[in-house]
Amino acid sequence: MSKFVSEEKEKATLYLMEIASGFWASKTLATAVELEIFNLISEEGIDINGLSKKLRIAYRPAEMLLIGCASLGLLVKKDSLYYNSALSEEYLVKGKPYYFGGVVTMMDLREYMPWSRLTEAVKKNERQAGKGGSVGLFEDIEGYSQEQRVFTEAMHSWSVQSGKELAEKVDFSKYKQLMDVGGGSGAYCIEVAKRYPTMNAAVFDLPSTLSITAEKIMEADLSARIKTYPGSFFTDELPKGSDVILLSMILHDWSPAENLDILKKCYDALPSGGEVIISELMVNDDKTGPVFAALMSLNMLIETKEGQNYTWLEYTEWLTEVGFADIRRVELSSPASNGVLIGRKP
Ligand SMILES: C[S@@+](CC[C@H](N)C(=O)[O-])C[C@H]1O[C@@H](n2cnc3c(N)ncnc32)[C@H](O)[C@@H]1O
Repeated sequence: MSKFVSEEKEKATLYLMEIASGFWASKTLATAVELEIFNLISEEGIDINGLSKKLRIAYRPAEMLLIGCASLGLLVKKDSLYYNSALSEEYLVKGKPYYFGGVVTMMDLREYMPWSRLTEAVKKNERQAGKGGSVGLFEDIEGYSQEQRVFTEAMHSWSVQSGKELAEKVDFSKYKQLMDVGGGSGAYCIEVAKRYPTMNAAVFDLPSTLSITAEKIMEADLSARIKTYPGSFFTDELPKGSDVILLSMILHDWSPAENLDILKKCYDALPSGGEVIISELMVNDDKTGPVFAALMSLNMLIETKEGQNYTWLEYTEWLTEVGFADIRRVELSSPASNGVLIGRKP
């Protein structure tokens, strides 16, 4: 989504239409993912009658859904048959390594309805997702296997993309072991370990998340090189032994004071010369965007009690306050990360 440029006056209401109807496109994609259409027609086409029979739905919605998906570039039509576009074949077929459907499913099942109460969230400064109000996001998920699964699969779908880009853009060859704090599914560790065959990695996270992490590490055949550590970054010390620590989509879940605590724990766990990497959708320093960072921040209003997406400058100030030096930026262009800040412990 790009910002409207004021010179394009004739396109003004088309731009507003795109924003206002955003949920039409979002729900079309989510329904197609839920009905597993992209798996159904992977590598082979289907016509309207065929879809209607396979899904046991009427011809009319089958036709509308296929046309809707084609209009969004998710399907392409040749003669009377619809096929996956290159985009859908790579990212929307369940089982593919960079499957993005986890994000689509979470947005739909977990966030779509709470987002319909955004006005209430804004007026009351109160989260709307899950049990809402005073219950925190992770208390909501812990112990509820379906919620935990939907959430962690979404993180995985996001983080295999940013993990791959991070491993390409940042030179990890100088490090021996990466620890991903609040590392979720282990996607970053998996991507980094794949690219750097001599590196080891560790995921520190809550026990309920780590059961899914262990599955993902095993599927990637990396159990020998990626360890898991159960614990809480609020009540436990972080394990030592890693010379680089990653915090991806962690600090946007919490308040500035909580973030300083987490960063201090990372500082204490690192050896001198070790580095911390913060990966987020960073808000620009003049607080005008970019779009995904700004809207992810509103998503933190819906999802968390005190989180928000912060600016490059805010993260930099906290890193400095905790004692990190030589802070540098590396820009990324992944769906859940537009960049990282890297700080070194002197
Ligand atoms: C938004 S997810 C990000 C996951 C992962 N870093 C990624 O980018 O894919 C936040 C993660 O923090 C973990 N988490 C929440 N509270 C935690 C705590 N107190 N201690 C350790 N991990 C925690 C959650 O279980 C979850 O995996």
